[in-house]
Amino acid sequence: MQTRVLGSSGITVGPIGLGCMGMSYAYDKAEQDDARSTAVLQEAPSLGVTLIDTAPAYGVYRNESLIGAAYEGRRDEVVLATKCGLYPEGPDNALIRDGRPETIIAGCDDSLRRLRVDVIDVFQLHRVDENVPVEESWGALAELKAAGKVRAIGISEATIDQVRAVHAISPIDVIQSELSLWTRQWVNDVLPWSSENGVAFLSYCPLGRGFLTGSMPVGTTFDKGDLRARSPRFTVEAIEANQAIVDVVREIAEAHDATSAQVALAWLLTVGPNVIPIPGTKRPERLRENAAAADLVLTASEVQRLNDLPAPAGERY
Ligand SMILES: NC(=O)c1ccc[n+]([C@@H]2O[C@H](COP(=O)([O-])OP(=O)(O)OC[C@H]3O[C@@H](n4cnc5c(N)ncnc54)[C@H](OP(=O)(O)O)[C@@H]3O)[C@@H](O)[C@H]2O)c1
Repeated sequence: MQTRVLGSSGITVGPIGLGCMGMSYAYDKAEQDDARSTAVLQEAPSLGVTLIDTAPAYGVYRNESLIGAAYEGRRDEVVLATKCGLYPEGPDNALIRDGRPETIIAGCDDSLRRLRVDVIDVFQLHRVDENVPVEESWGALAELKAAGKVRAIGISEATIDQVRAVHAISPIDVIQSELSLWTRQWVNDVLPWSSENGVAFLSYCPLGRGFLTGSMPVGTTFDKGDLRARSPRFTVEAIEANQAIVDVVREIAEAHDATSAQVALAWLLTVGPNVIPIPGTKRPERLRENAAAADLVLTASEVQRLNDLPAPAGERY
C-alpha cells in the first residue's frame, strides 16, 4: 500500500484521505444520512483511506460524534484528525474563532470524549484567531502534544509568516489549507516551505467543493442552506466561466477511462510527496472512486496541461 507521512510525527497514512465535513454540514442537507456516512467511514480503511478529517465546527459537534461511534472498537485502523479554535456559538450556531489557550485545552478534552479515544492523532488549529497571538494558540497545541493527548499538530489556512512563527516554537506536522486545480494560492510560499521542511500538506476541498468533478453544468444553483449558495465562485456566471477548467479535466479523464474526480486527485498527488488530498463524500461508491485515484498515473504532458489551467472566475470565499 502507498503511504505518506505526517511531518515529524512519523504517522503514516494512505495517500488519499477522507474529509467528513459534508456528512454533517455545509452542503446539501437533505442528502445527509448518518447510516450511509457510517458505511463510508467503516469501509474507508479497507481501501487504504486511513486519514479521517473532522472538526467540532462540522454540524455543531455532531460530525465528531458520528466518527467516534463509527470507529468504536476499530480505533487502530484509522488516523483521526480534528481541529480546535473555531466553534459554533449563539442561536444560529455561527462559527466563531477562539484561539485562547484555555479554550484549546478544554476543546481537546471535548473532542477526545466525542471521538471516544484517549489520544487524538492530529490536532489542528482550524483558524488563526486575530484577537490572540498565534504563538499563544500554538503553545497550547504544543503543550497537548507534550502531554500525550495528541500525537501530531497542525494549522489551517495560515500565512507563511504565521507558519514560520509557530514552527519555531514547536514543529508543525501538518498544514491543512485549500489546494486544488482551481485554488493554488499557496504554491509560491506555504507549499514549497512545507516540502522543504518535511511538513505534510493536507489539501482540503481537493474537488473544488464538487465542481471539479464536472457535476455542475451551466445553470446549477444551490439551496439557501448550502454554503456554495453564498460563494462568489459558485454564482451562475462563475459556474459558466469555469466550465473551461472542467472541460480540460474531463478530456484527460476520458483518455484514461477514469473520472474527473480521479484526475483532480491524481494531479494533487503529483504536486509533492507531502501532499495528501482529503476529498469529502458521504457516498460509498464515491469513496471507492476517490480512493482509486491513488493508482491513476498522469503523463508529464497531462500534468503540464493541468498546471497551465486558467485561474478561476470568482473568489473562493
Ligand atoms: N480546514 C478547513 O478550513 C476546511 C475547509 C473546508 C473543508 N475542509 C476539509 O476538507 C474536506 C474536503 O472538502 P469538501 O468536502 O468541502 O470539498 P471537496 O472534497 O472538494 O468536494 C466535496 C463535494 O464533492 C462531492 N464529491 C465527492 N466525491 C465525488 C465524486 N467522485 N464525484 C462527484 N462528486 C463528488 C461531494 O458530494 P457527496 O458528499 O454527495 O459525495 C461534495 O459535494 C472536508 O470534508 C473537510 O474535512 C477543511
